[in-house]
Amino acid sequence: MIVLAIETSCDETSAAVVEGNKLLSNVVWSQIKDHFRWGGVVPSIARRAHEDRLPEIVSRVLNDSRLTIGEINAIAVTVGPGLAPALEAGIEFAKKLALEQKKPLIPVNHLEGHIASLFLQRKSCQPFINNFEPFNLFNLSDHFLSLIVSGGHTELVSSNLKSQNSKLIMQHFLIGHTLDDAAGECIDKIGRELGLGYPAGPVLERFAKDGDPEKYKLPVPMERSPRENLNFSFSGLKTAAIQTLYKSHSISKVSLRQTKELSKQEICNFCASFQKTVIDALLLKLKRAMTATGLKTVFLTGGVSANNQLRRRAGALVRSSGGRFYAAPKKFSGDNAAMIGMAAQFSFNRGEVARSLNEIAAIDRQPGLNFPS
Ligand code: KG4
Ligand code: ZN
Repeated sequence: MIVLAIETSCDETSAAVVEGNKLLSNVVWSQIKDHFRWGGVVPSIARRAHEDRLPEIVSRVLNDSRLTIGEINAIAVTVGPGLAPALEAGIEFAKKLALEQKKPLIPVNHLEGHIASLFLQRKSCQPFINNFEPFNLFNLSDHFLSLIVSGGHTELVSSNLKSQNSKLIMQHFLIGHTLDDAAGECIDKIGRELGLGYPAGPVLERFAKDGDPEKYKLPVPMERSPRENLNFSFSGLKTAAIQTLYKSHSISKVSLRQTKELSKQEICNFCASFQKTVIDALLLKLKRAMTATGLKTVFLTGGVSANNQLRRRAGALVRSSGGRFYAAPKKFSGDNAAMIGMAAQFSFNRGEVARSLNEIAAIDRQPGLNFPS
């Protein structure tokens, strides 16, 4: 099945053409420049930018894959979770195209997309991850654990794959989620306080590289929660981190963005300490989830999974418990339509094709990944 996929859940406008698990073309148009001056994503700006750019991006991916719209078998679109106005732009576009071209429309869960990003292969059928052949990995009744860390979600998901009438069926069970802010959201908020711009993750990582992670002692969220608790919480860490910074340097009430009171080295130290604490909090629950489920194959995905320290430490943790660890290819860790095209194959196998275009609507930020719900 050749799928034209559309992703507009936040601030990346993206389209891709995916055949089975082979990626034929993928274009991601970041809106960072449109939102930068506001320090975060403005929903109405995001919607307008998606609407403006989708037609051009879709014709580019069709050109790149040397296919015409007539040769596409189905259209896939992210229906959530995400920012409703942003999602709606993609959904309206996809509905119109499906109607005009008389193609089936497949609704895709954005978080299943992040998991599916690990299954993508190149046009030549080579995997994007060295030595990783996802479809050979499983005995077709196997389970795996995913840690999805993004700007909107922090989730632990247990998934299984089975073969039914020679179709690969994937099911997901949400076993842990954030009770308040997502890890990426917390990173972006701290980044804003430090004047690092938006999104702060990649900049914070660069500063952290030259800093001392032991310089500031920050509380690891939910460290004392009961063993069976697999949920996350990041809103308290944000407040604690900023207060620690104010107290250590006797800065009060003045936004750090306007002060030049901190030296570059102090900012590096703070970024390193903060990044370490976020990773400690993520790995605490990943470890517990591995123990609770007995699962030893672990996927790491979502925008924050681009972070090298997180990848390194999560890999070390999983391997030290005798497990197999796979992180999403960096080029697909952030939002993109390639992963949506891949996930569409899983949705299709579960029979999730819209019977009527009216039944496709945006699902807002909250609901996570849980199939069957
Ligand atoms: O998955 P994603 O692209 O969008 C959502 O679905 O939310 O994730 C975006 C998040 C942002 O919070 C961004 O700051 C964070 O991923 N991020 C990083 C890094 N690159 C992106 N966080 C830490 N280190 C990075 N290198
Ligand atoms: Zn995402």
